[in-house]
Amino acid sequence: GRVLFAASEVFPLIKTGGLADVAGSLPAVLREQGVDVRILMPAYGAVLERLGGAPEVARMQLPGGPVGILETRLPDSEVPVWLLDHPDFSQRGGNPYHDAQGHPWADNAQRFLLLSRLAAAVAAGDSPLDWRADVLHCHDWHTGPAIALARYYAHPPMTVFTIHNLAHLGLFDRATFDRLHLPQELWSIHAMEFYGNFCFMKGGLNYADWVTTVSPTYAHEICSAPGGMGMEGLLSQRRERLVGILNGIDTEVWNPATDAHLAAPYSAASLERKALNKQRLQEELGLPQRADLPLFGFVGRLAEQKGVDLLLPLLDELLATPAQLVVLGTGEARLEQALGELATRHPQAAALRLAYNEGLAHRIEAGADIFLMPSLFEPCGLNQMYSLRYGTLPLVRATGGLADTVTDASDANLAAGTATGFVFGTPDSDALRGAAQRALSLWAQPERWRAMQATAMAQDFSWERSAAQYLQLYGFAAAD
Ligand code: ADP
Ligand code: GLC
Repeated sequence: GRVLFAASEVFPLIKTGGLADVAGSLPAVLREQGVDVRILMPAYGAVLERLGGAPEVARMQLPGGPVGILETRLPDSEVPVWLLDHPDFSQRGGNPYHDAQGHPWADNAQRFLLLSRLAAAVAAGDSPLDWRADVLHCHDWHTGPAIALARYYAHPPMTVFTIHNLAHLGLFDRATFDRLHLPQELWSIHAMEFYGNFCFMKGGLNYADWVTTVSPTYAHEICSAPGGMGMEGLLSQRRERLVGILNGIDTEVWNPATDAHLAAPYSAASLERKALNKQRLQEELGLPQRADLPLFGFVGRLAEQKGVDLLLPLLDELLATPAQLVVLGTGEARLEQALGELATRHPQAAALRLAYNEGLAHRIEAGADIFLMPSLFEPCGLNQMYSLRYGTLPLVRATGGLADTVTDASDANLAAGTATGFVFGTPDSDALRGAAQRALSLWAQPERWRAMQATAMAQDFSWERSAAQYLQLYGFAAAD
């Protein structure tokens, strides 16, 4: 079987979040299962710089202008990657979605529609490439229109659309829609119009043969308000075509035993070496090198979604218990500022790094004791799975993929030996405080803590199980 993966970011070529991790790791696994998967993504300036350029294998005319198709491979894999070459992508550095001030690029609708048009054309076999797809698999709003447009071809591919995050719908006003030269019929509540705007995401939600999302619990949550972000009606109508498939993780990139970012790689059998990573991390962050203080870690986008607002009112008292904290992330100015003030109040206990830093993200996963992820909603979440694998027990809210991957340290689960983390339900600071207190009291009992670490590290979040579910949706038997 042949599958075209179309996505706006793919690790390690370019990444702002978990979408890139998924788009960069699932294709390689599918390929090992015998699927001819190819990736289509934009040739961003940053990607071309990283690759030192890539050969052009085709040119074609699309309604949005002439485009080039460059060809490369996903680093360290056999997966072919086609890069959409157009000045709106290639002659722009920085973030794929917004400028240095955080304002969305003014031409995002045009840029991602171009990506969508090319995806539909390539998948339907209407391109100079000598290839067509049986399945077009698109991800999030950037490639939603591809699903709608694929239907206009003589031999449309089967389509799968994966929702990674419904908080970003890709909404554009009527004037923008008019400039896109799309079929007028798409401006309809039954098509892609959404409360007076044109909604890229709705192309995928409405027209895909299968809509998937990245965890079973999130699939359930988005069929009602508020999780559905206004799409709950449409999604519950399509419930029989909506499937929740839990993301896997790249077990080579995220392997504490071989992780080149770490001072002292370790495994469940050599957990004492984890302490060395903690010490080095404290040193790197300029925190006192205290093995006896619990170190909380947070890595992620500083966005409302991630529950930073629940955390902020608690942090002063948490640090006073005493404890240490490291936060790595970038995002909303108000959150960056509040965390900055906290770090200034507690120079000896809190370290803040407002940056995107892959190496440090790995070192936090390895060096922290407790990983904080109190998300208000979380379609899947990858960091909590990385944490489990690194024996850094996650503290999470019971939502989306967090609920599906972390088992609370309740008395019953502790007795059964299944506990892997700390889970709270109500989205408020009191509930979060309760979970943090439970975490701290277990941390003070090293034997029970080590037992939980062993259980956490033994969890299997590799892609194989999920890949089999995708194969089934594609209609391929394994090794087809
Ligand atoms: P989301 O996709 O909603 O941002 P996920 O948990 O699925 O959340 O994935 C986030 C990914 O991005 C993880 O691999 C995480 O390590 C990475 N990440 C997020 N922020 C940073 C940062 N500031 N520096 C390094 N890596 C980061
Ligand atoms: C999104 C979600 C996150 C998920 C990731 C990969 O960015 O916010 O929960 O893990 O996509 O599917």
